[in-house]
Amino acid sequence: MRVSAVIPAAGSGTRMGTPTPKQFWVVHDRPLIVYTLQTFARSDFIQEIAVPASEDGIPLLRDLVRRFHLDGKVRIVLGGASRHHSIRNGLLALSPADVVIVHDAVRPFIFEEIFRPLAEAAWEHGAAGTVMPLVDTVLAVTDDGFMERSLDRRLYRASQTPQAFRYEILRWAYENASEDEMLHGTECLELARRAGARVRLLEGSPFFWKVTYKPDIYTAERLAMERARQVAIVTGGSRGIGRKVAESLADRGLRVAVVARGGEAEEVARRIGGMGIQADVSRPEEVQRVFEAVLGRWGRVDVLVNNAGIARWRRIAEMGDGEWQEIVDTNLSGAFYCTRAAFKTMAESGNGGVIINIGSSSISGGRVGEGAYAASKAGLVALTETTALEGKPYGIHAFTVIPRRTDTALRRALYPDEKDADLLDPADVARVVTFCVTEWMPHLSGQSFWVR
Ligand code: CTP
Ligand code: MG
Repeated sequence: MRVSAVIPAAGSGTRMGTPTPKQFWVVHDRPLIVYTLQTFARSDFIQEIAVPASEDGIPLLRDLVRRFHLDGKVRIVLGGASRHHSIRNGLLALSPADVVIVHDAVRPFIFEEIFRPLAEAAWEHGAAGTVMPLVDTVLAVTDDGFMERSLDRRLYRASQTPQAFRYEILRWAYENASEDEMLHGTECLELARRAGARVRLLEGSPFFWKVTYKPDIYTAERLAMERARQVAIVTGGSRGIGRKVAESLADRGLRVAVVARGGEAEEVARRIGGMGIQADVSRPEEVQRVFEAVLGRWGRVDVLVNNAGIARWRRIAEMGDGEWQEIVDTNLSGAFYCTRAAFKTMAESGNGGVIINIGSSSISGGRVGEGAYAASKAGLVALTETTALEGKPYGIHAFTVIPRRTDTALRRALYPDEKDADLLDPADVARVVTFCVTEWMPHLSGQSFWVR
């Protein structure tokens, strides 16, 4: 079956009320329409894509098609005064096909799994649409603003796109549509029905909704972020700050791999529905095992939080080689091994990602008895800055979060007699880490955020 697509994108977005039409609004890291086009362009099921755009939109779209490597299948054409006019122009630009899928540019989060059943239904019946139950009850109204009656919600469905049509039927429907219909009609399925199709309706999805009003942009932002950052690895994730970070990321919908030296990793992972991995990050071969396990199960790594850290209270003059080594191996080398592995998969996937190192306020001003700890944590700041520079071409961002003294088991062990100390709540540190994960801050990459 030869299947092509028309993606109307020539509207001006009057209901959104912004000067730039909504399809060109940057959501997370790319204009809305790019999400839509990428789904179609990546699908082997779709042969050719016509995108009707306005006169002003055409150069913008050309640029996007080039920048996001969509050139292969996409044909940009001039749209029209109405959605129907735009779709007709798109249709005329396509080579003849068996089935044409029509999909609004401003429904960016469809999934390609719908294409085949939809196209097959259209091939069989002439046309097929996607629908959802109504959210609100529908009222019939009078011209002067009064209610006439309410409709029985169960009898109606909200029409979404994608929709699919036999190519010949859609061609015929547009050739025979009246000018009034072309200007004021909003439903291609209606044209197809009148052209003789028995329109099959398939279940759509809340994710096929149309970005129409301002609040829809916020939803789109959120969904785009969730798509970009799905899988996180948190080292030292069984206690203290790491545990709070793991919980907080899981709350935001990420799948979290909790890494810890002890068996508690499993326990924390079970509670948050993630994956527990017992490993010592100071050993490169164990870090490799962690990444293999996560990639094997979830296929990607988008977020790395290097939180694993150990400390001993010992003055420099009394510190043995082994103690120094153990602290630096875990706090600094461990972060390096993890960063190297994360960098590789983030760069290869083309998705980029974010790497966060947990520092310590001891990096500035020194602290008696914490030389190895402070030195290793200070090293992380430099590691972050270099990661940010080297990661920039790949969309990999890096941040250091530097908490002041925090109420953790590590601190309690170091200072068992500490009373009434004014300590930070680990949950507050986790909030800042989560912020760095869920905000899109390419221009701030490399920076340290102090939590005082
Ligand atoms: N569309 C089009 N040509 C038009 C009008 C609309 O290609 N003359 C496209 C829009 O770009 C959008 C889709 O049809 O992708 C759905 O239309 P709608 O949500 O109504 O978008 P706009 O018409 O841009 O928005 P509004 O109605 O608020 O002005
Ligand atoms: Mg419109």
